[in-house]
Amino acid sequence: MRSASLLLGVVVAAATFAAAAACGHDDNDPINPATPDASVATDGGADAKPSGLCVDGKSRDGDYPAGPTSITIAKTIPNLAFDGTDADGTTPRSFSLSSWFEPCAARSRLLVLRVGAAWCGTCNWHLGNTKLFATPELAPRLALVDVVVGDEDNRPAEVGDLARVRPRVDVPAEKYAADPKHRLRAIDAGQVQLPLYVLVDTRTMVIRNYLNDPSPEVFENTVRDELALIDGAARPAPKPEALFDGVFNREMRDMLSAMTLPAAPPPDPTNEVADSAAAAALGKQLFFDKQLSPSGNFACSTCHDKDKLFADGVPQSTGVSKVDRNSPTVALAAHQRWQFWDGRADTLWMQALGPFEDPKEIGSTRLFVAHQIESRYKAAYDAVFTKYPLPDISDTARFPPQGKPGTPVYDAMSPADKDAINRVYVNVGKAIAAYERALRVQPNALDRYNGGDLAALNAAQKEGAQLFFRAGCAQCHFGPRLTNDAFHVVRFPTGRQDGVADRGRVDAVAKLLASEFNSRSKWSDKPEAGDRILRAYDGPSMLGAFKTPTLRGLDRSGPFGHGGTLATLLEVTETYGKGGLDAADPRTTGALESWLTRFDPHAQQAIVPFLSALSGEVISP
Ligand code: HEC
Ligand code: HEC
Repeated sequence: MRSASLLLGVVVAAATFAAAAACGHDDNDPINPATPDASVATDGGADAKPSGLCVDGKSRDGDYPAGPTSITIAKTIPNLAFDGTDADGTTPRSFSLSSWFEPCAARSRLLVLRVGAAWCGTCNWHLGNTKLFATPELAPRLALVDVVVGDEDNRPAEVGDLARVRPRVDVPAEKYAADPKHRLRAIDAGQVQLPLYVLVDTRTMVIRNYLNDPSPEVFENTVRDELALIDGAARPAPKPEALFDGVFNREMRDMLSAMTLPAAPPPDPTNEVADSAAAAALGKQLFFDKQLSPSGNFACSTCHDKDKLFADGVPQSTGVSKVDRNSPTVALAAHQRWQFWDGRADTLWMQALGPFEDPKEIGSTRLFVAHQIESRYKAAYDAVFTKYPLPDISDTARFPPQGKPGTPVYDAMSPADKDAINRVYVNVGKAIAAYERALRVQPNALDRYNGGDLAALNAAQKEGAQLFFRAGCAQCHFGPRLTNDAFHVVRFPTGRQDGVADRGRVDAVAKLLASEFNSRSKWSDKPEAGDRILRAYDGPSMLGAFKTPTLRGLDRSGPFGHGGTLATLLEVTETYGKGGLDAADPRTTGALESWLTRFDPHAQQAIVPFLSALSGEVISP
C-alpha cells in the first residue's frame, strides 16, 4: 500500500501543475492524446511473462512485440527510430528502440528514455548529475538513452548538436538521439515538463511509467517500485526526499546556488576594445549624449535611464515616436548571446548601431554621428582606436552632414568613403558596448541566501522559489541571470500600436543575416567567432518566439514581456498559469511550447514573492 500511495503521490504532484491542460491548447501532433491511466502501471504481474518472441532462449533479430503500440502507460512503445550517436556523442548512429528489446533476458531492465533540450536548465542539471539517478544499485538494471529535442537556442535538434550535449554528462548514456519532433511528448496530452523520463520494460517494451523532472529520490523510488512489480518481488519502502532548509530538494538547491551574482561578462573577441577602460569612458559619454541626435533630444539614456535600472518603466518606449516593444534593462546585456527581444543583433556593438538610425528612436544617421565624433570627440576617439585614427571627413561634398543607407546622398558616396564613415560608426558601437560591459548589479536577497544567510529569504519567498521550480520555470530561467538566452513561444500579449501579434524571432533571423554589421561581417574584429549565427533558426516553431529575459531587477523593471503589456508580476504568473493567451487571441501568435505547465491560482500568487526578491540595482562605472 505504501508503494501504491507513493506512485499516486507522483501523479498527483504532476497533476497540480497539469490541471486543465488535457484539453484546449495547441498540440504538436500527438501520437496518442489519451490521458494515461497510471493505475494500469501498478498492475504488474501479467506483462512480466517472457515474450513468445524468445525462441530456444534466443530472440529473433528484427522482431518487435506485435499488437497495438502507442506512447501511453501500459502500452507497447512504438519501435521509434532515431538519428543519433554512440555513447561518445560524436560517432553517428541510427537506431531504433528494438535495440533494447531483450525478450529472453532472465530479468527485465528498464529502458530510460530521458528527453531534454540543450536550452533547458533542469535538463542540464540532470545530465550533470546522472550518477544520482543511475546509482550503483540501480545502474545494472537501467539502460539510459538521452533524447535531445532542441539546441541551445531552441532550434529543433540535429545530430550535430549531440556533441555539445555529451560533455555535460557525468555518466554517459548508451546512446544519444536527436528527436526534433519531440515524439515522446505524446505520453501526456498536457504538461511535458523537461527532462521527461519514460520508463520501458525491456522484455516487453511496455511503457511502465513516466516522470517530469523528478528528484533523485522520486526517480529511485519509482524505478525500484516498477522493478519490484516486474520481478514480482515485494515493493520496497520509499526513500524520503532530502530537503535543504526544509524546502529545497537536491536539484532545487543546486540550481538556486547556481543563480549567484554574475561576474564579469564573457569575452567578446569581435570587439577589440571590449574591455578597454578608455573605450568604456568614451562609450559612457556617447550613451548619454543627446547631441548625437539631430533634434538634440534623444540618447540611449532616454529609454535606458540609470535611475530606472537602465530601462524606462513604461510599457513601450518613446523616442522620436512610440515603438512597439518594452525597453529591457541593459545592465546585464553584455552577458547575452543575442540582443533585442527577437535576437536580431548578435553582438552588443551591433545592437548599439540600431537605435541611432531608427526613425522612432534616436532618429539620427551614421553620417551625422560621424561628424559629431569629428567635431567633439576626436582626441578621445583617436586615443581609443589607435589602429583607425579618425579620417578627415570635413569635406561635406564627399561626406554630407546627414545620411544612411537608403538616403540618396549616402547611396551616392564612393564605397571607400562609405567604409570610412562605417568604420567610425562601428567604433561608436564598440565604445558604447565597452561601457555597457562595465555595468554590474548589486547582490540581492537570493545572493545573500546563497552566501549562507538562510534568513535572507523569508518563508513566502522560499515557498515561491520552490513553486518556481515545480512549475518548470527553471527550464528556461536558470543560472546567474536566470535566463537561457534562447527563444520561446510563451504567448504574452503584443505591444504593437496596431494590436497585431508580434512575430518575434521568425522575422529577426533574416535581418540578422542581412545586416552589414553582424558578427561575421568585415567590421567584426574576429568574424570566425560569430559561429552561432550559422545555426540561427527561423522555422515555424519560432513564430511568436522571444528571447528569455533575465529575471534580475524584476522588482523595478516592469511592465513586463516584449510588449510591456503585463503590468505586474502577478499578471505574468497568471498568464503562465493559464498557459499563455488563448489560442485564438489576436494579440499573440505561435504555438505554446509543450513544456510550459499550467498551475493553480495559489501557485500563481505564491511565486510572486520570490520574483520580487530578485532585485538588480545597477552599479555603473
Ligand atoms: C526610444 C527608446 C530607446 C532608445 C533611444 C534606445 N533604446 Fe535600447 N532598447 C529599447 C527597446 C524598446 C528595446 C527592445 C527592442 C526590441 O527588442 O526590439 C531596446 C533594446 C536594447 C538592448 C538589448 C537588451 C536586451 O536585453 O536584448 C540594448 C543593449 C540596448 N537597447 C541599448 C541601447 C543603446 C546602446 C542605445 C543607444 C545607442 C539605445 N539602446 C537606445 C529602447 C530604446
Ligand atoms: C520555455 C521557457 C520559459 C519558461 C518555462 C518560463 N519562462 Fe519566463 N520567459 C520566457 C520568455 C521567452 C519570456 C519573454 C516572453 C515575451 O515577452 O514574449 C519570459 C518572460 C518572463 C518574465 C518577464 C520578465 C520581463 O522582464 O519582462 C517573467 C517575470 C518570467 N518570464 C517568469 C517566469 C516564471 C515565474 C516561470 C514559471 C512559471 C517562467 N517564467 C517560465 C521563457 C520561459
